[in-house]
Amino acid sequence: MASPRATARLKPSPLSGVELQTESVVEQQKLAAAEAAARLMQDGMKVGLGTGTTVAFLLPAIAARGCQGLRCVATSPATERAARDLGLTVEDLDELGELDIAIDGADQVDPRGWLVKGGGGAHTREKIVAGAARRFVVIVSAEKVVNALGPPVPLEVMRFGARSTLQALGSASLRDGEESPDGNLLADYFGPVGDPRELSARLSTTPGVVEHGLFAPELVSEVLIATESGVERRAGARRGT
Ligand code: 5RP
Repeated sequence: MASPRATARLKPSPLSGVELQTESVVEQQKLAAAEAAARLMQDGMKVGLGTGTTVAFLLPAIAARGCQGLRCVATSPATERAARDLGLTVEDLDELGELDIAIDGADQVDPRGWLVKGGGGAHTREKIVAGAARRFVVIVSAEKVVNALGPPVPLEVMRFGARSTLQALGSASLRDGEESPDGNLLADYFGPVGDPRELSARLSTTPGVVEHGLFAPELVSEVLIATESGVERRAGARRGT
């Protein structure tokens, strides 16, 4: 099985036949999950759009639904550009207020509904948008489902004192030259995850960490997992959706 980070970024490098086949299965599953989520769209909805290769399948699927009056929020410049190119209306989150739904991919999903996100470095905005939506739907291909979360856990850190921040965490390193959509630095924590709630609290209380990529089950309404036999719906722990 490829590592979560490797699957999050599909490489254009030469691939063997087996790798090509695996990649195309993963692609088909991402498309299936994205299409299932696009079917949730209804006229006039306010929609949060995530970031990544799975969301790249979601955007045309939403556009193809032809819903009237959709108003979208994008979690990254890449998503914003792609959405606008498809004719979707993109506005600021603060103009829209509460969203009806947010849809996004993930790097890892565990059996309790904990997520690791941020392979694409947009996890801070993604968490804000997920929190602003009444319903947060996660779309993944089957290989994102894990028994237990593992490293790397993406981090967004302040430029000021970034090395001190990472030193305080131990087992963390900056991503070379990568910055978040808001101009902060991107890094990854490589230590053991263990109890995600404990690690989440530790990362959140480390000065200099803007946001980490652990998403608690309480944020997640449902996960749509595309497998070889179809799209499975797993309920999340979020109430009121
Ligand atoms: C971006 C993310 C993505 O949702 C996550 O990395 C999954 O990406 P992909 O759909 O490309 O596998 O959190 O910040």
